[in-house]
Amino acid sequence: MDPCTLVIFGSTGNLSRLKLMPSLFSLHRNGRLPEKMTILAFGRRPWGRDEWIQDVHGMLEEKYPGGFDEEAFQDFSKRLYYHRGDLNDPQSYVGLREMVANDPVFSSNMVFYMSIRPAEFSEVIGHLGEAGLLKENEGWRRTVIEKPFGYDLLSSQILQQSLLRHLNEHQLYRIDHYLGKGTVQNILVFRFANLMLEPLWNRNYVDHVQITHSETHGLNGRADYYEGAGALRDMLQSHLMQLLALVAMEPPALMDAESLRDEKVKVLKSIRPITQSAVHAHAFRGQYSAGTINDRSVPGYLEEEGVAERSITETYAALKLYIDNWRWRGVPFYLRTGKRMSEASSAVCVRFKEPPHHLFRDTHLGRVMPNWLLIGIQPNECLKLEIQIKQPGLQMKTRTISLDATYHKGGEEEVDAYEELLLDVMKGDHSLFLRYDEVEWAWRVVDPILKVWSMERDFINTYPAGSWGPRGTYRLFDRDDQFWRHSLDVKGSDVSAEAY
Ligand code: BG6
Repeated sequence: MDPCTLVIFGSTGNLSRLKLMPSLFSLHRNGRLPEKMTILAFGRRPWGRDEWIQDVHGMLEEKYPGGFDEEAFQDFSKRLYYHRGDLNDPQSYVGLREMVANDPVFSSNMVFYMSIRPAEFSEVIGHLGEAGLLKENEGWRRTVIEKPFGYDLLSSQILQQSLLRHLNEHQLYRIDHYLGKGTVQNILVFRFANLMLEPLWNRNYVDHVQITHSETHGLNGRADYYEGAGALRDMLQSHLMQLLALVAMEPPALMDAESLRDEKVKVLKSIRPITQSAVHAHAFRGQYSAGTINDRSVPGYLEEEGVAERSITETYAALKLYIDNWRWRGVPFYLRTGKRMSEASSAVCVRFKEPPHHLFRDTHLGRVMPNWLLIGIQPNECLKLEIQIKQPGLQMKTRTISLDATYHKGGEEEVDAYEELLLDVMKGDHSLFLRYDEVEWAWRVVDPILKVWSMERDFINTYPAGSWGPRGTYRLFDRDDQFWRHSLDVKGSDVSAEAY
């Protein structure tokens, strides 16, 4: 791998503390970083290098309360540098350019990581461009843009135009950290490295698909960002839409970045547009009220610090989408996400249709349960296929069993999504990053919903913290026998509608 200088904007923020620095440390410890690779924090604090090293030490202490490899840290700290600067001050970027040019410790291949507020992306890229830092005369220059890319369709188009004034598409790495998760990549491997499921993977056999991401935690001090975002922008337009694309896409011609992204875009383009008058039939939002999680009382959203008094920001969003193509026409895809829910779980659940002929109608079996394929993304990293078998004994009774495969074998290495994505940027591999047309089409899907919700400002459904979301979401389902699949255990399919 080429040597490089990784410049982090927002180096003392949440993302840096929780993800970027721990991932870089882990990559360093495992010998995965190029030898001549430095990490240069761009920060406003009046610090020198020592203070920054101390701060990173603190971040790792926070991340690994049980302690971490101090010797490895001593070595890692040789990569850490600090540049004092103000994001809004053009001179700070000139200073950055000079610092890098004048010290041979810094490689002229540079990655600029935007771990800052989305509203600042455009300005910072503009200053970098004006300071000549984005020209690839001496080495490559890449920028990593965190999500959300824009606030809605129009603002994402404006952001894209402003970035293209200084950058070419090949220099842009729009991150969606879900694509760095091994279990998410496993969706592709599972689908395209096995022949068995392909004949079933379409409208003839699939009844519907559910994609869920639920969290038990609340805002974690991010009210400032979340108030302006809400669940639809924060999770659904990005991570869940990517999961949907991976589940629904056609096999790419090649496994390279462009072929892969072409196929994802085709799926997003085929999603039936939701007109403003159809928003209520396709989308549901909610906000958590006070409740109990793991036997602990937690406040409602409106009581959280930094939340506006009568905020109607949604902390729960559910959508029903149709993909109007040959493979999926007529199959509903139900997507939902929420904070302060009953359990933390991300999963893709595919329900197959019932057998066409109920051969067992007149026996004790009654109605046979349909098959489910469950792909656990986290924390339960699994793959389960639920099928019916006969119960031992004289009577013709069935039971549902689950063929279970865990993703991890004991003792296998666990890699954080950010480790993989940071390495990919350094390698110049775009496969797991979003091309602009993907982002744009995902915005097209949710834009009408955002518009209607932004006009309806008087009321939002609530759900008690610790529950599975607002009751009314059941109206999204096409039929009475469809219900949210909360649990990945067999018991979950034994009942026709699970408790809230
Ligand atoms: C982030 C969202 O992109 O993803 C957060 O901004 C959310 O609100 C997080 O909690 C979930 O990521 P993960 O990896 O914990 O599932």
